Amino acid sequence: MRQLIAGNWKMHMLRAPASELAREVRAGAQGLACDLLVCPPFTAIETAAAALAGSDVAVGGQDCHAKGQGAHTGDVSAAMLRDAGASWVILGHSERRQNHGETDELVREKVLAAVEAGLTPIVCVGETEDQRVGGQETEVVGWQIAGSLPKPFAGVVAYEPVWAIGTGRTATEQDVATMHAFIREELVRQFGEAGQGVRILYGGSMRPANAGALLAVPHVGGGLIGGASLNAEDFLAIARAASRG
Ligand code: PGA
Repeated sequence: MRQLIAGNWKMHMLRAPASELAREVRAGAQGLACDLLVCPPFTAIETAAAALAGSDVAVGGQDCHAKGQGAHTGDVSAAMLRDAGASWVILGHSERRQNHGETDELVREKVLAAVEAGLTPIVCVGETEDQRVGGQETEVVGWQIAGSLPKPFAGVVAYEPVWAIGTGRTATEQDVATMHAFIREELVRQFGEAGQGVRILYGGSMRPANAGALLAVPHVGGGLIGGASLNAEDFLAIARAASRG
């Protein structure tokens, strides 16, 4: 299966630089043998989608509400993301779980809303530093998968150890191999044969220098890239590493 390289722009990029970055990604994406996705903040989705129209680079949101519409001040629905030009959405990112108290149950409701609106969800899971030090990483991630993914599940899972996000510390290839094999096993246990086909991304300080090694680990189906996705050169270097596999 082709690898998916997804950029999570987080709360960065006004519309003008978003448009420029999207155009640079578009120009460098020609001929790459991986799937590419950029996830701008809400206000830049339409701009990025316009810059990428007719290309193979997809656009996604970083969150959506679990309800289709209603009295939810400040929230954005999955249909609104779709209307703005998104076809994907990141859900349950650890920054949302931590900063907005999102539970597995809420993430599962959001996944259902996203799929209903025609978006492909990327559901993030991953342990905190304390949980890893306590030897609970597989238990925690197993619970997150069981609680956050509806059955059937038509989407992508991203393993993002919280301690590796934005810290410059990357999980070792051995850690990633262990966790991705465990996640694959869990997906097959919970979803049967369909669990074999779910792409599992790695996220957490992926950069051009470590991407080749991380993307070569068995059961790694791509990367979810934060910091390095804000720069077209780095993002495309990671995409080229994914295309070599
Ligand atoms: P990072 O972020 O690449 O900056 O560590 C990854 C993410 O949070 O998705």
